[in-house]
This record gives sequence, C-alpha cells and structure tokens, in this order.
Amino acid sequence: MGSWTLALDLGPSSEGGVAIRIASAIRAEILRGRLLPDQRLPGSRTLARQLGVNRNTVTAAYDALDAEGWIRTEPARGRRVAPPSSRNRPVRRDEGPRAAMPGRLGFALGDPPATTASSDPSLPFDLGGGLPDVRLVPWEALARAHRRVLQRHAARILDYGPVAGHPGLRAQLAVMLAETRGLACTGDDVFVTRGSQMALWLVAAAILRPGDRVAVEAFGYRPAWDALRAHGADLIPIPVDDDGLDVPRLTEVLEQGPLRAVYLTPHHQYPTTVALGGPRRLALLDLARKHRLAIIEDDYDHEFHYEGPPVLPLATLDHGGHVIYVGTLSKVLAPGLRIGYVVAPPPLLRRIGALRVAIDRQGALSLEAAVAELMEDGELQRHVWRTRRCYLSRRDTLLDALRTHLGDRIHLRPPSGGLALWAEVSGLDADEWAERAAVRGVRIRPARQFAFDGRRRPFVRLGFARHDEDELRVAVGHLARAASAR
Ligand SMILES: Cc1ncc(COP(=O)(O)O)c(C=O)c1O
Repeated sequence: MGSWTLALDLGPSSEGGVAIRIASAIRAEILRGRLLPDQRLPGSRTLARQLGVNRNTVTAAYDALDAEGWIRTEPARGRRVAPPSSRNRPVRRDEGPRAAMPGRLGFALGDPPATTASSDPSLPFDLGGGLPDVRLVPWEALARAHRRVLQRHAARILDYGPVAGHPGLRAQLAVMLAETRGLACTGDDVFVTRGSQMALWLVAAAILRPGDRVAVEAFGYRPAWDALRAHGADLIPIPVDDDGLDVPRLTEVLEQGPLRAVYLTPHHQYPTTVALGGPRRLALLDLARKHRLAIIEDDYDHEFHYEGPPVLPLATLDHGGHVIYVGTLSKVLAPGLRIGYVVAPPPLLRRIGALRVAIDRQGALSLEAAVAELMEDGELQRHVWRTRRCYLSRRDTLLDALRTHLGDRIHLRPPSGGLALWAEVSGLDADEWAERAAVRGVRIRPARQFAFDGRRRPFVRLGFARHDEDELRVAVGHLARAASAR
C-alpha cells in the first residue's frame, strides 16, 4: 500500500505529554477502525517531522503501543497495526475493521429508484449475454497508443476538454459509421459518452417529460427501460416476432394515443437476435414522420454479422431528423473502456452536451485519443476481422455441442449475427434450468429476464463469444447435466 501523510489529531495539550498523546491518538484510530490491521504506520522520522516533535518522542509512543500489543514492528515491513487478538486486553465485539463507517444513514433516503436491471454474480462460464471475449483485446497496442498520445499531447488531453469527446475519436467514429453503416455523418455529428448506457440516459433526459409514452420492445434491454423510466417515461411494450418489432401493432398503439419516442434494437433484436424486416423499417420511419416520433436506435453489436452484408441502420434511411443513433465500443473492443456514442442532429447534441456537463463534464480524453489512434492505424479494424472469424467458429461450436448434448430439448436457429443465440426449449423449464446451471457455474438467461411482463416463457439466451471452443464444450456439459437433474 502506498503511504500518504497520516493526519493525526493529538487533542489538547492538557491531556499529558506529547508521546502519551501520540500513542492515545493512534490507539483511538485503531479502535475507531480507521487504522486497519496490518496497515503500515509512518516511520518515526516522517511522523516526527509532520507533527513538529522530536523523533525520540514518536519512538517512545510507538514503543508503548508495541508493548501493549496495538502495533508490531517487523524488521523488513516496518511498523504495522497488529490484529485485535494480539492486544493486551479483551477485544470488544464492535472492534471490526469497518467500525469507522456508520452502518445506518442519519437522513432520509426516499423511495428506491424504479430500476429493474440486476447485475448477476460472476460465474466461471458466462453464457448470459452477448459479452465479447476481452482476452482477445489488443491491449498491448492500446497501451502503446495511450503512451504515444500522452507523450505528444499530455498538456491537452489531461486537461478539461470538449464535452462531446476527443475530436480525433469523433472523426474516426464518423469514418467507421460512414464506411460500414452507410451513415452520412462527420465528427461534429458524433457525441462520445461513457458507454451507450450513458448515451441512453442523456437522450432520455434530453427528450422526455414526465408522463411521456415511449414504445419499447416487449422483450428487450432492461437497462435502457430503466434510463427511460428514470426520466418519467410511461413505457408501452410492443410485441416482437420473427421480423422484429411488430410495427403494425405500434401503428394501432399510435391510433389510441400519442407517443414521444420508440426505443428499439433493429439490427440484432435484443434478446431474440432477429433483424427488423425491410418493410417494417420503412413503415416505422413513415410513422415517425407522421407522428413526429423520436426513434432511439440502439445498434450495440453491428460489426458481428456472419452471413452476408449487415442490414444498414434505420439512421441511414432517415432524412427527417427522427433517428437518434446510439452505439458502443463495448462489444467491438471492450466494455470496461466505457466508450459509447450518439449520432443525432445538432440541436439534440447541444442539449445532450448541456446535460452531460452536470453529471460527468467529459470522458477520459487520453483514453479516447488512444482508441482513435487504434482506429487510425487500422488496429481496431483488424481486431474486428479476427474476432468475427473467431466468434463465428464459437457460435458453431456452441450450436454443435448443444445439439449433441441436449438433442430435441432445445430448438436452435443459428443467428446470422451478434454474440448470442436465442433458443426455444421443450420438456425443460427455462428458469429452473438456468438456476440449476448457475449452481454448476454456468450463467444462461431465461426469457423471463428480458420480458416486459416478467412472465416465464420457454426460451433462453446463450452467449457464445466470451468463451473459447474448449470452454464452451465444458459449459455445455454442465448445462446438459443441469437439464437432466431433478
Ligand atoms: C441492447 C444493448 N445496448 C447497449 C449495450 C452496451 O452497453 P454499454 O455501451 O453501456 O456497455 C448492451 C450491452 O450489453 C446491450 O445489450
């Protein structure tokens, strides 16, 4: 542990000699739980300088504490706080390491937020979602790029900077979006956020008023629903079928009352993986024009398509300023980098900028600059090609293993893209299967977790990208045993 200056309050001088006051202050901090067992204490010279006393005085205090068992001195490790058991007196029950932090609040907290998303415990095999394999991330190239940008531009990128993100990254994202997704945009149209979750939160804050009705997919992405609800949205679930969002049903809903926005995942519908059909895309944009709707298009894993070219985003077809396009580098690079983005007309981006300043001011410019370098050098593009091949092979391995071990209890349809598959189960309760799989260390997610109505259905989502072929086979072995267990 690095050493900071230890602030000690010695109390009034009426309480005895300086050595006694130093010893009492340290004893009190140990009892309070501020100084924890094995925590290193400053050297006598350092503490003496800091307190403006003679070094012998500090040594005398330390010797007294040592004799009483409060601290111990080890030749190579210095003076450290001793464990409670070595104190020369009975240990009180409340002398725990966290005694310093009150367990209760001294003020009212109000009602909990209406969030529904939960973060599951980590398990050895995480087939729970569409997570990428971060072991494949070219982290050495990223580290080199980070070092390079700091060497060249430290003064600029370690300072406060543009709220919409590093200009180089915005420009590189615009190139990527123009080339791979047909979006006619420049860096000025791209607003970088910390992950697309922040983008969704800011979009919701920018466009919603309490009570606004927002249509969402009836099987969908709960964190997005939470961001919308947090800004007062009244969510209206619209069914999803093999062609994606049921746009005819959305039309009926609009006949009953106005909507402010539609949030959807048209490329690989989350969680069912299907693409929104061509006629529905056009119909949705028509509805947007007719009813002045905002369409929040969440295109979270666009790069991963295995059969033929990808379907282009709704944003590419939109000429009326309806689509708010939200993307992320969480799948294509790494979720821990927290880089997402919004592409939208300037008035909305200005509003988003004003809102962002109030919660985050800006992203980590040095990291954004480093990622921009990876894109400029073509490193990110090469990573996409490598991982696409790799994830395709993993998808096929998972499909084969499931067919072999689960036979007709699971009905598989290979997804044409994305990082997960959606499968129907028969003769198996999806929720119970997921619970038994978790006991065996494998996380899969039953349909209920994505359902707006929270009801059970015989489907599961299985991610194939996070683990390699051998790991997937082992995981499916556990899944098969979990399916057979009663
Ligand atoms: C539908 C959807 N949107 C967005 C994201 C990415 O979120 P973020 O960019 O905040 O990591 C995910 C990740 O799981 C997702 O599944």
